[in-house]
Amino acid sequence: MIGLMDELDSALRRISVTRSAWRWWKNIAVRDGRGSATWQFLGALAEFVRESTPERRRQRYGDAEYDWEHRVNTTSAAVGWRDRLLGVFHSPYQPTESALFHEMIAALSDQKGFDFGAFTFIDLGSGKGRTLLMASDYPFRRIVGVELLPALHRVAWGNLGKYRSEAQKCFAIEAICGDATDFAFPVEPTVLFLFNPFLESGLRRVIANLDRSLREQPRVVYVLYHNPLLEHELGGCSAMKKNLGTNQYALYVAGEIPDLKNYGSIS
Ligand SMILES: C[S@@+](CC[C@H](N)C(=O)[O-])C[C@H]1O[C@@H](n2cnc3c(N)ncnc32)[C@H](O)[C@@H]1O
Repeated sequence: MIGLMDELDSALRRISVTRSAWRWWKNIAVRDGRGSATWQFLGALAEFVRESTPERRRQRYGDAEYDWEHRVNTTSAAVGWRDRLLGVFHSPYQPTESALFHEMIAALSDQKGFDFGAFTFIDLGSGKGRTLLMASDYPFRRIVGVELLPALHRVAWGNLGKYRSEAQKCFAIEAICGDATDFAFPVEPTVLFLFNPFLESGLRRVIANLDRSLREQPRVVYVLYHNPLLEHELGGCSAMKKNLGTNQYALYVAGEIPDLKNYGSIS
């Protein structure tokens, strides 16, 4: 019975490829015109076909070392064609490389007064959950991931159960399946992690949500933006200021370091 409910649930939550493609086209048509949107659509499909050749598929296994070490499945190589095609119209799944992740967290922990135990780590567009696993090696207050595609979310769930690391320090981890552009930010000091999960309009919406939330409840929020292709959109959040930028990531902050007495550690 539970299996049947799960199947029904996942069928209802299936994201339509045609609807995704149509929205993608419309978004670009508004910005660049219909002719250009159609050319870009054909170009994206051609790139999808190129990415499907055995040679390109083999190259994607290059990111599997992390999986081998931790006995999990976070590689972009083992993603089915339908989810890869959906990735063309939302954002393709690609896991954050582990050395770079730890470099970004080291930059974060160097911020004046930063204390892991006061912060919730949130990854919008969490894919198969690699960042959730890597973040759990730090003593964050809690960890939340939001992923649009049910197939990737299911794998993330499996990974959370399988992950074994002597370094693990946070066990309060939640993986949510849903559209992160609707995400209601918790009123907590937050480290928001973004690795290009959205197209421009989606990121604008998330930043507007964050801006509204910060105006209603001022608090400290760091944004770790990996591969910051649409960094200009962070300008939409008046409270944010840039603290650090390299060619691989940017670190923004809003608000003051919290008084730790107000936030008990739950992990
Ligand atoms: C580049 S991957 C990053 C994966 C993960 N954050 C990491 O760094 O390892 C981007 C992810 O965002 C997801 N995504 C795209 N649009 C989304 C949306 N509206 N809501 C939630 N997730 C989304 C994609 O399915 C994909 O898994």
